[in-house]
Formats: sequence, C-alpha cells, structure tokens
Amino acid sequence: MIKLVKQRIPEGEEILDDEEITMEEYSKNCLTRESEYRKKVRYIIEDIRLPQGAEVLQIGPGPDWMGIWLAQERPDISLTGVEPSEDMIRVATANRNQEGISEKQIQYVQGVVEDLSRFGDSTFDMVFSNDSLHHWVDPIQSFKEINRILKETGGFCIFDERRDLNIRETLVVEVFGRIAAGKWLKYWKSSIDASYTVDELNEMLDSAGIHDWNAERKFLEVVIKKSSQIQNANIIL
Ligand SMILES: C[S@@+](CC[C@H](N)C(=O)[O-])C[C@H]1O[C@@H](n2cnc3c(N)ncnc32)[C@H](O)[C@@H]1O
Repeated sequence: MIKLVKQRIPEGEEILDDEEITMEEYSKNCLTRESEYRKKVRYIIEDIRLPQGAEVLQIGPGPDWMGIWLAQERPDISLTGVEPSEDMIRVATANRNQEGISEKQIQYVQGVVEDLSRFGDSTFDMVFSNDSLHHWVDPIQSFKEINRILKETGGFCIFDERRDLNIRETLVVEVFGRIAAGKWLKYWKSSIDASYTVDELNEMLDSAGIHDWNAERKFLEVVIKKSSQIQNANIIL
C-alpha cells in the first residue's frame, strides 16, 4: 500500500517567550491536558514500573506538570529535568514551588538531550519524555546518550506526536482540535509537522545501534520503549 506522508518541517529546539505567548500562558494551557498527563504518569508508575527510591531523568519538562504530578504520587523518587529553555525553567520552578515540592525532589538543569555528559554511565533508573522528541536536533545522538546514562535494568518511555497519522486521526486533529485547542491548534499542527514517523524512529534506533527499543504506534502518538516493556504493557494510551 502506498503511504503518503508529508515531509518533515523542523520546529526549532528550545521554546521561549515570544511576542505571541509567554511560557506562563503556555503552562496554563498545558493544564487543559491534565487527564492525558495523569494517564501517562500512571503508565510510568505501573506499566514501565517505577522502582522505589528511583533516580529519574525527564527530557524537556517544559512547565513540568507531568513531573510535578509524578513527584506528588511518588514522593520517594528524585527527578532531574534537562531543559534548554530558561523561560521554561523559570515557569517549571514556579509551578514546582507553588505545588510545595522541594528542590531536592525535582531539580532542573539547563541543557539538551544530545549532550548528557554531566551524568555518568548507568546513573538513572528511569528516563521519560513527553512531546519533546520532535524538537531534538539529533535524535540518534540523543538515543545513544539516553542509553548510556540509563541503568541496564532501567525503564524508559518517550511519548511524542507522529507525522504518519491516518485519515481518521487527521480528521480528529482538524475537527476536535478546532473545538478543543482553539488558538493552540496551530501549535499542535506544527508539532505534528515537525515530528517523526514510526518507521523513521525505528530506523534511527537501528542507526544508534539500539536493538532492544521499539517505536510503537498509538492513537495520534508514538511511544518508544524497551521491547520487553512492550510485551508487558497492558494499557492503551
Ligand atoms: C512541546 S514542549 C513539551 C513540554 C512538556 N514535556 C509537556 O509535555 O508539557 C517541548 C519541550 O522540549 C524542550 N526541548 C527542545 N529541544 C530539546 C532538547 N534538545 N533537549 C531537551 N529538551 C528540549 C523545549 O524547550 C520544551 O520545553
């Protein structure tokens, strides 16, 4: 079957305040996605299986509602967020403080996923990321870095948009997006245009020499996980 997928249109790396939106407004809009974020938090805890006292790394936390809700559900863990945007770090820090979470429990460091050299090999029990991958300039290098800093027994999952939506999903974005996302629809669509297809991601994982991770198609999304986690997974996002 012939598949027609539009060419990728990169979106740029860090997200900063601009003349249209501040990151405070961005953060407020993220709260409209609370049920999606909370579902993913449960998925990380239950399906990927977050161990007690885990050291967790999040890539591209943005305003960090997912990290904050994860930390509230699991006060035993410590979370580090790697984020290039100083504006996002400002907002995430304010959100964290407002929610009464300590700096010991969640800390933010300015940086990019392509260079995690500040962290040693096999440091983290869990790595996760949501809606950030389509911004990464070099996903192959990023996958190698995540693989290096993750413990062999560590779990991880990367959620993102994908460009290879079928007709039904495209219609959902156009119709539901118009109603639910309003002025934010153009950002959703440009994220989709900047994202990778499932096939592209699996080819990149191969090029990174990582053979036990897999990109899996979900409704409107892709999730990358270890193959064994895919067999164990029992919830549909
Ligand atoms: C669309 S936002 C998603 C924020 C948050 N994870 C969420 O789901 O609400 C993407 C985030 O990834 C960050 N980002 C962009 N390029 C990055 C990179 N190379 N490494 C780490 N984070 C990056 C952006 O600055 C932004 O905060």
